[in-house]
Amino acid sequence: MKKVYLVGAGPGDLDLITVKGLKAIQQADVILYDRLINQELLNEAKDHAELIYCGKSPDRHSLKQEDINDLLCKFALQGKVVTRLKGGDPFVFGRGGEEAEALANQQIPFEIVPGISAGIAAPAYAGIPVTHRDYSSSVAFISGVSKVGVDQEEYWGHVVKSMDTLCIYMGVSKLPEICERLLRHGLLAGTPIALIEWGTTERQRTITGTLEDIVQKAHDMKNPSMIVVGEVVRLRKKLQWYEQLRVDEGQLVSSI
Ligand SMILES: C[S@@+](CC[C@H](N)C(=O)[O-])C[C@H]1O[C@@H](n2cnc3c(N)ncnc32)[C@H](O)[C@@H]1O
Repeated sequence: MKKVYLVGAGPGDLDLITVKGLKAIQQADVILYDRLINQELLNEAKDHAELIYCGKSPDRHSLKQEDINDLLCKFALQGKVVTRLKGGDPFVFGRGGEEAEALANQQIPFEIVPGISAGIAAPAYAGIPVTHRDYSSSVAFISGVSKVGVDQEEYWGHVVKSMDTLCIYMGVSKLPEICERLLRHGLLAGTPIALIEWGTTERQRTITGTLEDIVQKAHDMKNPSMIVVGEVVRLRKKLQWYEQLRVDEGQLVSSI
């Protein structure tokens, strides 16, 4: 029995994968990968590595989670090195916990290779620090669709009262409901909010506004988008760098 690596591929920019994550791609006999990873990473795979697309678009799963778990176990039990490549970080809204549990249940050795999650990276590329000594000393990563939490009014009330910055994943299609909820639970209509679509990639697009006007301003924003709520969003005016870099240098990627 070999090993399974549950690897975070980062948020989209090819260079935002860890060295350890890259090694796991290079060593794998089989790679099971998701829709949101930068597909160029697969060029790093061995010549004869088997590449399996797992999908995971919000409305259409190419492979069911149970089937993915079964495949991870099957290939590892065949003695293969298996890399499960997931967008962002595998344990942040990535169902990596369920995959690790499936492996643990069968005593299959695994390693978790963390990745840079979109909730950190997309705001950073939009010039929004999720914490700042003057504006925010806490940040919450929240799912716009989840089994626990989001449908409970009490939960949103708690989040609004206790957190300075909110990074909301998988929320773009529910933006009107999210804004209504935040207002109902006491955030002011003028609270700054940003949507960052395809953060860290050459397709990155950022729209800012307030809880009152963002629904209209961001009507054409699509998945994948990160929603950021809080005073820190105001800093974008001064700190935006990525879109500016592309304009200044006429290039689509960072020069680092
Ligand atoms: C199923 S979650 C996966 C999150 C991932 N595990 C992570 O740590 O970033 C997918 C959601 O993450 C967010 N997301 C992922 N990549 C993104 C990107 N490049 N820009 C903005 N949001 C992104 C979107 O909200 C998307 O709907």
